[in-house]
Amino acid sequence: MTLNRFMIWAVALAASVAAQNTCETVEAQTAIKVLKSFTIDYNKEQSQYWSTFSGDLKPTCILEPETSEEVAAIVSILHKNNETFAIKSGGHNPNNHFASVDGGPLISTKRLNEVIFNADSETVRVGPGNRWDEVGEKLDKTGYTVVGGRIGNVGVGGYLLGNGLSFMSTEYGWASNSVIEYTVVLANSSIVTVSETSHPDLWMALKGGGNNFGIVTSYLLQAYPQGDVWGGNLEFEATPEKTAAILAAVRNFTENYPDKKAGIIVTSERTLSTLLNIWILFLYYNGPEPPQGVFDSFLAIGPTINTCKTQRYADLLSGNNWSVLKGSIYTIGTETMPLPSKEDGPEVMQAIYDHWVKVSDTTKFVPGLIASIAFQPMPRGIATISKSKGGDMMDLDDQHDRIIIELDYSFYYKSDFDQVDIAMRATYGGFQSIVKGYQQGGLLASDAYLPLFMNDGFYPQDYFGRLRPEKLQLAQSVQAQVDPDGFWRDRTGGFKIPSK
Ligand SMILES: Cc1cc2nc3c(=O)[nH]c(=O)nc-3n(C[C@H](O)[C@H](O)[C@H](O)COP(=O)(O)OP(=O)(O)OC[C@H]3O[C@@H](n4cnc5c(N)ncnc54)[C@H](O)[C@@H]3O)c2cc1C
Ligand SMILES: *[C@@H]1O[C@H](CO)[C@@H](O)[C@H](O)[C@H]1NC(C)=O
Ligand SMILES: *[C@@H]1O[C@H](CO)[C@@H](O)[C@H](O)[C@H]1NC(C)=O
Ligand SMILES: *[C@@H]1O[C@H](CO)[C@@H](O)[C@H](O)[C@H]1NC(C)=O
Ligand SMILES: *[C@@H]1O[C@H](CO)[C@@H](O)[C@H](O)[C@H]1NC(C)=O
Repeated sequence: MTLNRFMIWAVALAASVAAQNTCETVEAQTAIKVLKSFTIDYNKEQSQYWSTFSGDLKPTCILEPETSEEVAAIVSILHKNNETFAIKSGGHNPNNHFASVDGGPLISTKRLNEVIFNADSETVRVGPGNRWDEVGEKLDKTGYTVVGGRIGNVGVGGYLLGNGLSFMSTEYGWASNSVIEYTVVLANSSIVTVSETSHPDLWMALKGGGNNFGIVTSYLLQAYPQGDVWGGNLEFEATPEKTAAILAAVRNFTENYPDKKAGIIVTSERTLSTLLNIWILFLYYNGPEPPQGVFDSFLAIGPTINTCKTQRYADLLSGNNWSVLKGSIYTIGTETMPLPSKEDGPEVMQAIYDHWVKVSDTTKFVPGLIASIAFQPMPRGIATISKSKGGDMMDLDDQHDRIIIELDYSFYYKSDFDQVDIAMRATYGGFQSIVKGYQQGGLLASDAYLPLFMNDGFYPQDYFGRLRPEKLQLAQSVQAQVDPDGFWRDRTGGFKIPSK
């Protein structure tokens, strides 16, 4: 009798657990595609993350909805339990638990992959399941493009929610400034269209607000006429002389931005086991040839490799895919600095670079370690354009030119994560101290607002806390409206909004 009652209880418990498990319920009650663990498709999807560590976190299953209604159905089912879950687009954010999950379902936006060009309205409807090289390819014959990623392999979904820095940002602003409309599945499973006139606070909050407000199932983007472009890479040896010259050139380029159709990323890379130390520049010009002079200060430094040429925009994006090396664990981090003057530039820029060299040296025995730093110009003109298009959460002002620094450490083994984590924090933490020191010493503008760039942020960085107070308050009030029970806040990873 005792045994019998125990058995009934055990069966009842098993049934209730089964009813609450999202993966099983979705499979039993809907037509949504479910990839079960240990299947080939599941493993293939897990191998698509940029960082192998994220791919090693094992979701209970992977759900691949095809419509907003299917996403809404998943959200309803998730309310019947308390499982953690994650939303993944391109999987290029290397922070664990941002687009990956260890137990609980992973919602992949892969099948939400429309790219629909409308010539009359000059817009493109883009699903979050695309990568930017796919978008470029699909738009190629239209003579139009959208403001998107600089490296083709990056996903649309996460990139646009982190504002999105593009080669075209000096022409058109952050990528998010060209989002006209979002289709979003909210925590209460309703599907809403969000624009400047419909849910305007949410519209603003999504422009650099990450995954805190809902699952975006489609973006309506402004399209811009697009022909062939010029671009590619320059590579330099990182000798002390060339390093000083490149740092001076990127500073000058940011201040005297020679042409708004030009874009650059200036990266230095150290492979510590081989002592290989190089600079790699990504150059872009929105036209078949840059006018005389635009990139001269870089070319004059004497690159050892120069792959720049006239090509289709889609080819430039997929060509930049060479830089996406799979098979390593990645960490990413960022800091923002005001641009030093021409006179103070050599000292300030060199101090930043030297600090990076010093800290990255502490990781030299970590197997497979590659350290990189990117200097990304953020001239004030981008802020002017952003404001004219309605603004965004970062809300940069056009009082200052800035440089957004992006850091990567990549390595082979999870067991080295903690050591690299410490180095990453020491790298950007040191930058912040260096910047503060120069601000106090009068070499850098002391009143400059220095928010962090979400897309390059390391998980402990205080993205929301570094926004202007009014933008933080907006994020808090929108969250209170659309996520009163903390559905996204408590059950997914990502940069979270600090409570009031
Ligand atoms: C090689 C490389 C190059 C890069 N170049 C650039 C660049 O040029 N400019 C730039 O701005 N950034 C760049 N980044 C950074 C990149 O934008 C971010 O890592 C971004 O988060 C990646 O987008 P994803 O769609 O691949 O993201 P994922 O890793 O899939 O997702 C990132 C975050 O967004 C959330 N998310 C994704 N889709 C949705 C959705 N539909 N609804 C709600 N939440 C969602 C996820 O939950 C997660 O928290 C680059 C990164 C790499 C690795
Ligand atoms: C859900 O799970 C979290 C984390 O495990 C826990 O803190 C919270 O209390 C749970 N909520 C409910 C309603 O069970
Ligand atoms: C600085 O930039 C301006 C504008 O592009 C250019 O004319 C000038 O030659 C540059 N100076 C140096 C030292 O590179
Ligand atoms: C980059 O694009 C090329 C050309 O479209 C493609 O063959 C390649 O697989 C892409 N690389 C990655 C890492 O996605
Ligand atoms: C869902 O939430 C939104 C935002 O708070 C609200 O406008 C809408 O009325 C809610 N829908 C339902 C069905 O409760």
